[in-house]
Parts: sequence; structure tokens; C-alpha cells
Amino acid sequence: MAYNHIVILTGAGISAESGLSTFRDAGGLWAGHRIEDVATPEGFARDAALVHHFYNLRRAQLNEVRPNAAHLAIANFAQTHTGTLTVITQNVDDLHEQATNGHDMPQGYSLLHMHGELRKARCLATEEIFKWHDTMDASTPCPCCNKPKRLRPHIVWFGEMPLYMDLIGHHLRRCDLFVSIGTSGNVYPAAGFVQQVRSTGNGHTIEINMEPSQGHSLFHEKIYGAATQTIPEFFINL
Ligand code: APR
Repeated sequence: MAYNHIVILTGAGISAESGLSTFRDAGGLWAGHRIEDVATPEGFARDAALVHHFYNLRRAQLNEVRPNAAHLAIANFAQTHTGTLTVITQNVDDLHEQATNGHDMPQGYSLLHMHGELRKARCLATEEIFKWHDTMDASTPCPCCNKPKRLRPHIVWFGEMPLYMDLIGHHLRRCDLFVSIGTSGNVYPAAGFVQQVRSTGNGHTIEINMEPSQGHSLFHEKIYGAATQTIPEFFINL
């Protein structure tokens, strides 16, 4: 079956074998940090230094990690797919970008970071967004205001609206294949995308994960195993 409009949702599981912690697995990020402290606007207002430190460490780690066979399989498939391929990632790392290796991607390809990006900063006053590779803290002057205490990581925290939701809705309504990779299905609205696709009736839905997710019963098809094993094989056979 040739699919034309494909949507791929990725979560932390796709980057696990590149050495990046997931959130809810044993030893995951939320085992060592309180969400309230490091991933909410209230936590940032209470202790900005703690939040900056948390994201500075994660941003620095990006210099040490590389895309794995799963990221590369998606990027390679994108080069040959003639329809649309929309990668919606919950991940804030840049491994999908690194996997394209700076190649121009086909017109039908798009990558949407619905939870933001570690390599970007945002001005609290103007909402302007800047590429950011370095550390930041409350004393770091904002590039647009040149004032301290104006920068925050460009990350969507709990209680905040994810990014690109209109565009995501458009692609979910139109897709004929929805593939969910490496996500536990605990966090909405991403965990509800499979239901959205099924409610339009068009799309075939596939879950590829290490283990059944919260919403596993909603998928037409399920494939379990490590992403670097399952994903290259899946795209070769697609
Ligand atoms: N290959 C495939 N799947 C894997 C692998 C692997 N090597 N390792 C772990 N997984 C699976 C786990 O089984 C789990 O179901 O990846 C999933 C990771 O789940 P979470 O840690 O909950 O991460 P995710 O679903 O991406 O979290 C969603 O929650 O904390 C917020 O904003 C944060 O974007 C994040 C959102």
C-alpha cells in the first residue's frame, strides 16, 4: 500500500539509544527532577537558576550525542517519499535535524517541534526566538532587549499551549498513515493524536515502541522493540 500523506509522531524513546534519557522510564528525567520545579512557568518564577541549570545541562549534552539508525531511517525515507511527510516531535533535542545532515529536504517534508527546542531561547517581553547553543541564566542579556532576566528556554512547559497546533490538526485530518514512535502516550495533546486520526476515518495507525503505550489499544497495528531495530526495517518495507 503506497501512502501519500504520512504523519510521524516521535517521543523520547527514539532518542534513547543516542544516549538521551527518556522521561518516565527507570532512571528517566522525571525520576531525578520534580516536574513542578523544572518544567512549569511557576517553577521558573520560583527558581529560574534551577530551571536554567536543568536545560543548560541538557543543551550541553546535545554536543555529545548523534542521531541513531531510527532518526537516519526517517531522514532517508523522507528523501525518496513523493507525498507529504510530517514529523511531529515531542522531543526538544535536534537529532531529527542532525539526521538530515544539512541536506535540503524535499518540499513535502516538515519537522514540527511541538514542545519547543533546547537550541533556542525566547524573550519573555517580546516573545522573539533566538538560536541558542550556549548556557543562559538570569544575568544573560537578551539579544533584542539587551536586558537581564528576559530570557527563558524555548521549551513548552506543563500548563502551556504546545506549538503548531493548527498545522498539526491540518496534517492529522489529512493523513493516510499515522506512525507513533517511542512515546508512552502519557501527555496530551500528543497522546490524543491517534484518536484524532481515527475520528477522521482515513488514516491507518501504527504504534512502534519498546512496550505498549497508554493508548496502544487505539492503534490498528503495533510493533514492539528497540527503535534502532524496528524503524529501519519498517521504512525499508513501507
Ligand atoms: N526504542 C523504542 N522505544 C523506547 C526506547 C527505545 N530504545 N526506549 C524507551 N522507549 C519507549 C518507552 O517504552 C516509553 O514508552 O519510549 C517511551 C518514552 O516515554 P516517555 O519517557 O514518557 O517520553 P515521551 O512519551 O516522549 O514524553 C512525552 O512528556 O515529560 C513530557 O514534554 C515531555 O515531550 C515529553 C512528553
